[in-house]
Order: sequence, then C-alpha cells, then structure tokens
Amino acid sequence: MATTGNPLLDMTDAMTGHAGDEPVPDETFADTALPGFKQAVIARRSIRVFDGEPIPEEVMRDCLRDATLAPTSSNLQPYELHWVRDPKTRERLAEACFGQPAATTAGELVVVMARRDLWRTNLDKVWDLMTEGGKKTFPKPVDDYYHEITPRLRETDALGIGNLMRRITFWWRGRNEPTPRSPVNTGDHRVWAHTQSSLVAMTLMLSLTAHGYDSCPIGGLDKLRVRQVLGLPSQAEVTMVIAAGTRRPEGLYGARLRLPYEDLVKEV
Ligand SMILES: Cc1cc2nc3c(=O)[nH]c(=O)nc-3n(C[C@H](O)[C@H](O)[C@H](O)COP(=O)(O)O)c2cc1C
Repeated sequence: MATTGNPLLDMTDAMTGHAGDEPVPDETFADTALPGFKQAVIARRSIRVFDGEPIPEEVMRDCLRDATLAPTSSNLQPYELHWVRDPKTRERLAEACFGQPAATTAGELVVVMARRDLWRTNLDKVWDLMTEGGKKTFPKPVDDYYHEITPRLRETDALGIGNLMRRITFWWRGRNEPTPRSPVNTGDHRVWAHTQSSLVAMTLMLSLTAHGYDSCPIGGLDKLRVRQVLGLPSQAEVTMVIAAGTRRPEGLYGARLRLPYEDLVKEV
C-alpha cells in the first residue's frame, strides 16, 4: 500500500472498510433523536440537594455504560469511573468534597478519574481487541500508529531530556509546516487525560438526565484525599465527582444563566 508520509492520512486510508455496526445517522435520524437529545440537554441542571434515594442499579449501570461510549484520544480510554457504593467510603468521599450538600445528599457518587498512567496497559488491550487476540492484522500505517507514534507521544521521561528534545523537534519542524506542539511535558499528559475523562463525565450526566435523574459535577474537593479514599496511585488524578439522584425542589439554586451566545460562540 502506498503511503503519503502523513500518518493521519495513511491511517484513514488503512482503516477504510473496517466500519462498525452502529446505526448511521441519516436524514431521518434527527426526527427520532433530536427531541430527546434537546430535552436532556436543556433539562440537565446542577442540583445541590437530592432526596438521598439510590438510583436503581441497572439504571446506574446503563448510564455508566453510556459514559464509556464517549470518544477518547487514540481510543486509549485513559480514565476510570469509580461508582462508590460502600457507605463508609461514601461518607469519607463526601467529607473530601468539603461536605457539600450535593455530595452528602446524593443517591449515588461517581468519581471520574483521569488515568494518564494507564496509556500503555490500555494501548495493549485496545490492540488486542482490534486484532481479536492477534488473529487479525492491520496495514502497516495502523501498526505504526499504535506501536510507534502513539508510544512516542505518550511516554514521559522523568529527567525531562526527552521532553526537551521533543520541544526542540516540534519547534524546528513547526517553523515551516503544521506540527504537533504537544505533549512536551507532564502537564500536557495531564491535560490530555483530563480532556478524555471530562467528555466521559459529560456523557454520564446527560445519560442520567435522559434516564430521569439529576446530577451535579463537583470540582470543589480535596483531590489528594479523594484519591486516597479510593486507594489509587499518585498519577491517577481526580477530574471531578458526579453526584446523582433525584432532586429536592430547593436543590435547584436558580434559573439557568449563560453569557450571551456571541461571547461564547465565534463564527469565523
Ligand atoms: C468541573 C465542574 C466543577 C463543578 N464544581 C462544583 C462544585 O464543587 N459544587 C457545586 O455546587 N457546583 C459545581 N459545579 C456546577 C456549576 O456551578 C454549574 O454547572 C454552573 O453553575 C452552571 O449551572 P448548570 O449546570 O445548572 O447549568 C461544577 C461544574 C463543573 C463543570
């Protein structure tokens, strides 16, 4: 197969014909999907006081499964959702959320963790799934993408020498042509992982709404304590906690407030 030298173009070429079996949105899709989608997006509000009733297990699992359908960079899925069910752990978690009512009154609590440290493990697992345990082969550009380009981008070196080399290489190359500018340091890797986990968090909240339940994203928390409550390693970072359940009327703090559309959306 002829290659262009641009790994992203070569990947597209190599992956053509490997489609999945999900429904493909067509001109009739919006008729059924749009009303429900709009309702869920508009109905989702941050609720600060819940009635404390748990959400049925199967509903929670369905919402969590929906959340895992969120897209992730290189499909590496560098996150974990910790649905905290043990009462004692929940209590400690709510405390680490500074005792915010959303956490203390929620029916359910889910900690959304960014796991940049899992990139290698997940890459191996994803490759194993793609190749059906090594039975299936992919064209060279796909192999290169997963076994050369992705590891090169995701590896962090403790001394920072590789990071510096990468920064110089990107800068040199970028003078004359579009070039990736990151990752060049641990901060970039952290942003990378939190980007994925945030999309997962949003998908989870929308799914909860679509199932008839409320939620509140909680970022006001002691990240170190939350991590310790879950017994996770230091590279695992809390993105947010999602409190979920059924609202009490006083749990909605006010009307929805947004900046003008023109401030937030630029048509260029
Ligand atoms: C990452 C993130 C962290 C947040 N942290 C908190 C929090 O700690 N406590 C809280 O009451 N609300 C928290 N919120 C909710 C916001 O205050 C809320 O989304 C915003 O006021 C808009 O209201 P709406 O969600 O009802 O549209 C957080 C939201 C996000 C996205």
